[in-house]
Amino acid sequence: MIECVCRQRHSEMILFLLALVAVIVMTNSEKNFGMEEAGMSSDEGHRCTCGKGLTRRQFLTSAGAGALVVAASGHLAKEREASAAVIKSGEGSKITLLINGKQFHMLVEPRWSLLYVLREELGFTGTKEGCGRGECGACTVLIDSVPKYSCMTLAVEAEGVEITTLEGLMKGEELGLVQKAFVEHDAFQCGYCTPGQIMAVEGLLRRELHPTIEQIRQGVSGNLCRCGAYSHIFEAAKRAAELKRGGAL
Ligand code: FES
Ligand code: FES
Repeated sequence: MIECVCRQRHSEMILFLLALVAVIVMTNSEKNFGMEEAGMSSDEGHRCTCGKGLTRRQFLTSAGAGALVVAASGHLAKEREASAAVIKSGEGSKITLLINGKQFHMLVEPRWSLLYVLREELGFTGTKEGCGRGECGACTVLIDSVPKYSCMTLAVEAEGVEITTLEGLMKGEELGLVQKAFVEHDAFQCGYCTPGQIMAVEGLLRRELHPTIEQIRQGVSGNLCRCGAYSHIFEAAKRAAELKRGGAL
C-alpha cells in the first residue's frame, strides 16, 4: 500500500514538472512576439530555410488565415448543399399531357423525360429507348406533328402540345398507312429503329405528300439504322406517300 502512494506522488510530481516546462516555453514565445512588435524580431536571425524568408510570425499569421479560409469554405460548401437540396425526392408537378388524342393528368418529377413517362408511367412501349441522349432517334414521337426525340424532351415541357406515338397511328388493331408500307417493303431487320423511322416518315408526310428522295433521306436523317436497311426504308416512305395520297395497297 505504501509503495502505491509513493508511486502516485511520484507521477504527480512528473506531471507538475512537465506543466511547468510548458508554461516557461509559452512565456518565452510571448516575449519573442513582444520583441517583434517592438521591431526587435527574434526571428530575424531564424528565418526559415525554405527560401521564402518567412518569419515565424508571418508563418503563423498565414497559417491562421489559411485555417480561416478552410473553415469558411467548409461553411460555404454546407450552404451550397442546402441550396442544392431544393427538390425533394418524390415531389412532383401536376401536368396534363395530350397523347394520341387523350388527356392524361399526372404527377411527374421535373427531371423526368417524356420518353420515361410514355414508357414507364403510361405504358406506351411503342416508343423505344436506344441511346437515351439524342443520338439514335429510336425514341422519336410527333409533337404537334413534328418529329422530336422524346428522350431529349422533359415531360413538363410537353404540356399543352399534341403528342403522337406509334400507337396513335393505328386504328384499333389495324396498322397505319406508314406501318403498312414498312411491312410491305420489309423495311427493317432487327426492328429496333423501326418505330422511330415510322414516326419520322409520318412527320415528313404530314408536311409533304410528294417528297423527293432527297427529302425522304433528310426526313429520316436523324434516325440511325444500325442494320443498314436504308434502301428499304426509302422505298417504304415512297409507298407510304402513295398510300396517303389515296393509292391502293
Ligand atoms: S433514345 Fe432518344 S435519340 Fe436515342
Ligand atoms: S432494323 Fe435494326 S437498327 Fe434498323
